[in-house]
Amino acid sequence: MKPKVLLSRVGLWSAMSVTSAALMITLAPLTARAVSIPTEVTEEGKKTYSNYCAPCHGDEGKGDGSLARSLLPKPRDFTRGAYKFRTTPSGSLPTDQDIYKTISYGVPNSTMIPWDILTEQQRASVIPVLKSFSEAFEVRKPDAAVGVGLETRPSEKTLAEGKKIYEEKLECWKCHGVEGRGDGPSASEQEDDFGFPIKPFDFTTGKFKGGNSSTDVYLRFTTGLNGTPMPSFAKELTDEQRWSLTHYVLSLIKPEECPHK
Ligand code: HEC
Ligand code: HEC
Repeated sequence: MKPKVLLSRVGLWSAMSVTSAALMITLAPLTARAVSIPTEVTEEGKKTYSNYCAPCHGDEGKGDGSLARSLLPKPRDFTRGAYKFRTTPSGSLPTDQDIYKTISYGVPNSTMIPWDILTEQQRASVIPVLKSFSEAFEVRKPDAAVGVGLETRPSEKTLAEGKKIYEEKLECWKCHGVEGRGDGPSASEQEDDFGFPIKPFDFTTGKFKGGNSSTDVYLRFTTGLNGTPMPSFAKELTDEQRWSLTHYVLSLIKPEECPHK
């Protein structure tokens, strides 16, 4: 890549992070700090779940609701307690806040919409219902969230370092492809833990399932996506290297193909 192209991508990236910062403010609160999440299943939670979630996720949370058959990716089966989008380490349960964020943000590139037609209280009320579908929440607690250090500023240097990690050190390209289109040599053989085919994410689309902020991307490859072949790279990198890799992954977004631009 020529330095000039690289630089303009850095420019774009900073513009993007400003936009997403603005978005965060208008969408706030995505986190549940302001709403209280009930610790027990309530009538409100049961009613909200059966009206809005059961058609896909099923009456018992097995991901087998009446609409599920025709969908791919499949609605999550909640019985194993395997959640993709977390702030907690690989293999851990998610925190209530992690679940709240997914419900509010939705999962782009799937039929899971952002549930902003529900009040914050309704969104909070379904959390104990989801947890009640899995014994895992009775016997374990979520581990503490992984530490996310202070973000470095994206520059040509961090992008070059990130590229090296992506292409040589950790070989992300084997699944995600050299240009990040989700078409690496191992891409077609991936399956999730439920036996369904799963595609490595296409970074060029720009609509990350777990959120587009740099912290979101940092967390995805640091915690891994439970229940999927996307591993956790928690031990391989220093905090600075993680930000470099994050900046590089974000630089793979193709603005001309990104519907938000
Ligand atoms: C139209 C179908 C549909 C409906 C209705 C629906 N979901 Fe989903 N949901 C999905 C799909 C599909 C996924 C999996 C997306 C993926 O992994 O790419 C999902 C994933 C999730 C996840 C997984 C998060 C993770 O970290 O793995 C949660 C939590 C969730 N849904 C909660 C809800 C709640 C709560 C409701 C009701 C308010 C709801 N969903 C309604 C289709 C639906
Ligand atoms: C074995 C194949 C494999 C390897 C190697 C791999 N990934 Fe993934 N990755 C996946 C799959 C599959 C998904 C999609 C999961 C989904 O859609 O739920 C994914 C998802 C992601 C996401 C989440 C995007 C979103 O939608 O929020 C990020 C970020 C990511 N990978 C980064 C990386 C980075 C960085 C590396 C290298 C350090 C890497 N991946 C290596 C298979 C892989």
